[in-house]
Amino acid sequence: MSLLKRIERARPAAEGESQEPNVPAAIPPAGQGDAPQPPAPTAGGTPTPPPPAAAPSRFAGAMPARESFREAKFRVQNRLINELDPKLDLTNQVEVRRQIEELFGRIADEEGLALTRAERVRMLEQITDEILGLGPLEPLLRDETLTEVMVNGPQQVYIERDGKLELTNVTFQNDEHVMKIIQRIIAPIGRRVDESSPMVDARLADGSRVNAIIPPLSLVGPVITIRKFSATPFTVDDLIRFGTATPEMFEFLEACVKARLNIFVSGGTGSGKTTMLNILSSFIPDDERIVTVEDAAELQLRQEHVITLEARPSNIEGKGAIPIRELVRNSLRMRPDRIVVGECRSGEALDMLQAMNTGHDGSMSTGHANTPRDMLSRLETMVLMAGMDLPLRAIREQISSAVDLIVHQNRLKDGTRKITNITEVQGMEGDVIVMQDVFVFEQTDVVDGKIQGKLKPTGIRPHFVERFETAGIHLPPNIFGSPF
Ligand SMILES: Nc1ncnc2c1ncn2[C@@H]1O[C@H](COP(=O)(O)OP(=O)(O)OP(=O)(O)O)[C@@H](O)[C@H]1O
Ligand SMILES: [Mg+2]
Repeated sequence: MSLLKRIERARPAAEGESQEPNVPAAIPPAGQGDAPQPPAPTAGGTPTPPPPAAAPSRFAGAMPARESFREAKFRVQNRLINELDPKLDLTNQVEVRRQIEELFGRIADEEGLALTRAERVRMLEQITDEILGLGPLEPLLRDETLTEVMVNGPQQVYIERDGKLELTNVTFQNDEHVMKIIQRIIAPIGRRVDESSPMVDARLADGSRVNAIIPPLSLVGPVITIRKFSATPFTVDDLIRFGTATPEMFEFLEACVKARLNIFVSGGTGSGKTTMLNILSSFIPDDERIVTVEDAAELQLRQEHVITLEARPSNIEGKGAIPIRELVRNSLRMRPDRIVVGECRSGEALDMLQAMNTGHDGSMSTGHANTPRDMLSRLETMVLMAGMDLPLRAIREQISSAVDLIVHQNRLKDGTRKITNITEVQGMEGDVIVMQDVFVFEQTDVVDGKIQGKLKPTGIRPHFVERFETAGIHLPPNIFGSPF
C-alpha cells in the first residue's frame, strides 16, 4: 500500500478514534490539514515536552488527546524541517525518507514524546507527507470530485465541487507553511517566487494548473489557486448529461468543425471554454494534422497526428519568454490542417485571424467575453494590442470574414455550465458586424436555487449551411427548429 494510502487510513485514528467516524475522507475534519485550531499550539517555539504522567491519557483518543497529537506533531515537524539538510535533493525520495526517519527518531526521543508505537508510525507518515507531498493539500488533490482548490492564506481553503464553492476546514500553520508548499510546487520547473517576483504560474505533476501570488501583492497571505486536471476529459455525453448542451447542438457543432468553420469559444473565467474547445477539437477528422498552441498544455486531443506547443514564461532573469503569438506564427510554417489556440488574450488574435483568413480554415480558439458580441469587441481590442496601426473598420472586416461561429458558454449562478448562445457571424452591415443566434438557452425559472430553462434552436438557418452540403454533411432538416 502506498504511503499516501496508509496515511489516509491512519488519519481518523490518529486524530481521535471516537470523533466523527463518518467524516468523508476527501475533506479532512478540522485541523487535519495540520493547522492549529484555536487555541494555537506552540508550533515553532521551544518545545516543552508533555508531562510524562499526563502523556498516556493525552494521546489516548478523545478530543483533548487529538489536540495534543497535533501539537506534538507540529513541534517535531518544525524541528525536523529546520534540521533537514537544505541541500537535500527532494527528488531523491529514498534518501529523503531515510533522513526524515532518522531525524524523526532522534527528535521524538529528545522531545520525550510519550507515543505508542502505532502513533509514532502515524506521526512519521504525516510528517513525511508534509515534507515530500503538498501537505494539507494532498487529500484535496486526491479527491477527484473537486475541480478547483483555492488557498486564501493559511486559514482559509476553498474548493469547488459541482461548480459550487465550499469552504473547507483545511488550514495551514502559517504563511511560511503555505510558502513552503508553493516553493515545492514550483521547484521542479525552475521558477521562483519571492518579493521581487511575487506571482508564478506552474503545473503539478498530474498537469493541474497552479497560480500562486504572495505578499506584498496579496494582502491575505500567500494565495494558491489550483485548477485540477481531469485525467479523463469530459465527453459529449457528459456535457449532454450535465445539461450544458443538447444532442442537436453537438450534432450541429460537429458539422461546423467538419465543414472547417472558424470557431471561437467565448465565456467567463472557468465557464468551461477549454473543455468545450477540447470537445470541438475531438470532432476534427483523424487524417488531419493538428497544431495546438497553449500557455499551459491543457487540451487532451485523442487524435494521433497532433503537435502540442506550449508557450514559455521568462526565466529567473526575466529572459527567454516565448509568447503564444510567436508560437502561432511558427505553427503556420508547420503545414497545419488545423490550428487550435488554447486562448487568445492579446496580439496573437491578429495572427490567428490572419491565419483563418488565409487558408487555415477550421481553426479554433477561446476568448474571455461576456456575450458573443462582447467576444467580437474583445477581439478588436486584442488586435489593437498587436501594435499594428490598423483602422477599426479594417479590423472589423478582418474579424467578420475570419470568424464563422461563436460558441458562448456561461457558468450560471447554480454552478452549472451552459452553452447560452451558438451564434453565426454573418458579415458587415455598414460599420457593424452582423450576428445571428442559431441556438440559445432561455431561462424560465429558478427552483430551489436551480436554474430552469430550455436550450433551443432559434428557427433560423445559418448562412453557412451550404458549406455543410459541400462537405457532404447532411443535418436533419428540423435541427434548426421552426421560427413559428
Ligand atoms: N460543461 C461543464 N459542466 C460542468 N463542469 C464543467 C463543464 N465544463 C467545464 N467544467 C469544469 O469547470 C472547470 C473549468 O473548466 P475549463 O478549464 O474548461 O474552463 P475555462 O473557461 O477554460 O477556464 P479559464 O477561464 O480558467 O481558462 C473545470 O474544472 C471543468 O472540469
Ligand atoms: Mg481555459
